[in-house]
Amino acid sequence: MPGASEQITRLLDEGMAAIAAARGESDLLDAKGRFFGKKGAVSAILKGIAALPAEERKAVGEMANRARAGLESAFDARLSEIREKERLVREGRERIDVTLPGRGPMPGHRHPVSQTMSDIISVFRRLGFSVQGGPDVETDYYNFEALNFPPEHPARDMQDTFYVESAAGDLVLRTHTSPIQIRTMERMKPPVRIIAPGTVYRSDSDITHSPMFHQVEGLAVDRDITMADLKGLLTEFCRMTFGPGKPLRFRPSYFPFTEPSAEVDIRCVICGGSGCRVCKESGWLEILGAGMVDPSVFGFVGYDPEEYAGFAFGMGVERIAMLRHGISDIRLFFENDIRFLSQF
Ligand code: DAH
Repeated sequence: MPGASEQITRLLDEGMAAIAAARGESDLLDAKGRFFGKKGAVSAILKGIAALPAEERKAVGEMANRARAGLESAFDARLSEIREKERLVREGRERIDVTLPGRGPMPGHRHPVSQTMSDIISVFRRLGFSVQGGPDVETDYYNFEALNFPPEHPARDMQDTFYVESAAGDLVLRTHTSPIQIRTMERMKPPVRIIAPGTVYRSDSDITHSPMFHQVEGLAVDRDITMADLKGLLTEFCRMTFGPGKPLRFRPSYFPFTEPSAEVDIRCVICGGSGCRVCKESGWLEILGAGMVDPSVFGFVGYDPEEYAGFAFGMGVERIAMLRHGISDIRLFFENDIRFLSQF
């Protein structure tokens, strides 16, 4: 075959050039297919060798095999070059920049209800009260009976109670912190000056009521305690909590465990008294119930009503938090929206 060696030299040059010019693996495989793969040009020459004159076959065969071996080793070298380059690009892209500022932990703080709760507690501590606790799941006796709610008394309907089914007897989720009054008086002889913070539960839900909320109970029992002491204490509490000049209103009311009883209101801080949705157009917001301990309650705990007198009160913590911060919907406290909670 005249010119076979020139043809091989040309293929070798072109193949080498194509390998050198390959940008990626697919360019390289393409060059292999064209020049020295099974169906490439060099293989075609080798297949055609039989047709050559016998004296040329050996030289052409050797030359073609050398050309193929040369192209193969150039291919291998270029392939590892390309792979190395790709690896460097990938690692460059994935490199960690250790000079970037770190992502610190998000600093948290206490929930606004917890903050208000501990502020209330610290006001009463400064006024000489100690702190008592009791269980969230109460017996009917402590939640109602010993507080002078007789079994069928309509006053029980004032509190939408969650009853707990139990083999142990009549259990309820406590509807108020008042049972802690009874538990405390069972343990302590007068003088008593305690507050009792806690979670309470009622089947009640709207913009000012939540089925789970918090109260702080107060109880003082001693010789010669009068309603004037109660009024003085609560006036001072409001001054320390809301600042001076916030009017307070005592309204006659009824609770089975106090006589006389009062509901204490503070000027609505949402509307300033002109009337709004939150204060139900009254201009006032009830913050607590209070009164003089009913002598029949003393009967349940073995205190002598001839010797001792006492006052008691119970306030809603969410109500007070709403008043302090001007919040109009109690449910915001329990939706756990960070945008709301982080404002306090
Ligand atoms: N326990 C009452 C309630 O949750 C509030 C209350 C009223 C507590 C009068 C008292 C009190 O200690 O004397 O509705």
